[in-house]
Amino acid sequence: IIKKNLLLEGKTKKIYTTNNSFEILIHYKDNITAFNGLKTNFLQDKGVLNNEITTLIFQFLNSCKIKTHFIRKINNREQLCHKVNQIPLEFVVRNIVSGSMTKRLGVKEGIYLSNPIFEIFYKNDKLKDPLINDHHAVFLGILSYEELNIIYRMTSKINFFLKKYFLDKNILLVDFKIEFGKNYKNEIILSDEISPDTCRFWDKKTMKKLDKDLFRMGFLKEKVFDIYMEVLKRLNVSSSI
Ligand code: C5P
Repeated sequence: IIKKNLLLEGKTKKIYTTNNSFEILIHYKDNITAFNGLKTNFLQDKGVLNNEITTLIFQFLNSCKIKTHFIRKINNREQLCHKVNQIPLEFVVRNIVSGSMTKRLGVKEGIYLSNPIFEIFYKNDKLKDPLINDHHAVFLGILSYEELNIIYRMTSKINFFLKKYFLDKNILLVDFKIEFGKNYKNEIILSDEISPDTCRFWDKKTMKKLDKDLFRMGFLKEKVFDIYMEVLKRLNVSSSI
């Protein structure tokens, strides 16, 4: 595979074209950002950890027959993926109340949700990624109701598989954000990354936070790195159950 031109650069990733027009190369950077990019820092080798963590999770989801963009890891910082037209929405799944939901609804962190809550955010920097609903997404011409249904069904399955995957590693999957794109056949597939940057993970026994919340809360960079490393170690160890 030959890496060609920089297609786009985000806060934590760079996307390159390749010699195959249906495939892209995703490069994981060492940046860590929070609060819509307001808080940002350099965290040496974070890209290596997130590339590996995302690889393990997407390999697992591929093995569960979820359609994803992931093809294979190429090196420490890069992975080969199917090219998609990115859908400008973030789908958040909540299994336990935390984060923006506590503030928006004035509810306590830690409440278990027997029915997972799905939220949609419109990816728009100018508008600061507002929370929207299905009807807004259809009105904006981003998706049809039918396509939203496909995404909700996929999201439910992804949550089902990931909850169990992490529980086997003594991690509670509190909430997470996923994104989708359309491939050349116009099929909706899971894209982007799944990592401690995009999920909330709590240790099952101690309820200790194992994710980007530590960075949001102002912990030292070394501590944040150690926690990401711990997540990776746990994913590499097979189930203790
Ligand atoms: O901040 P909030 O509680 O809405 O975040 C819900 C989940 O989505 C968290 O796991 C957070 O890390 C993730 N998220 C993300 N990217 C965003 C916003 C939220 O990965 N832009």
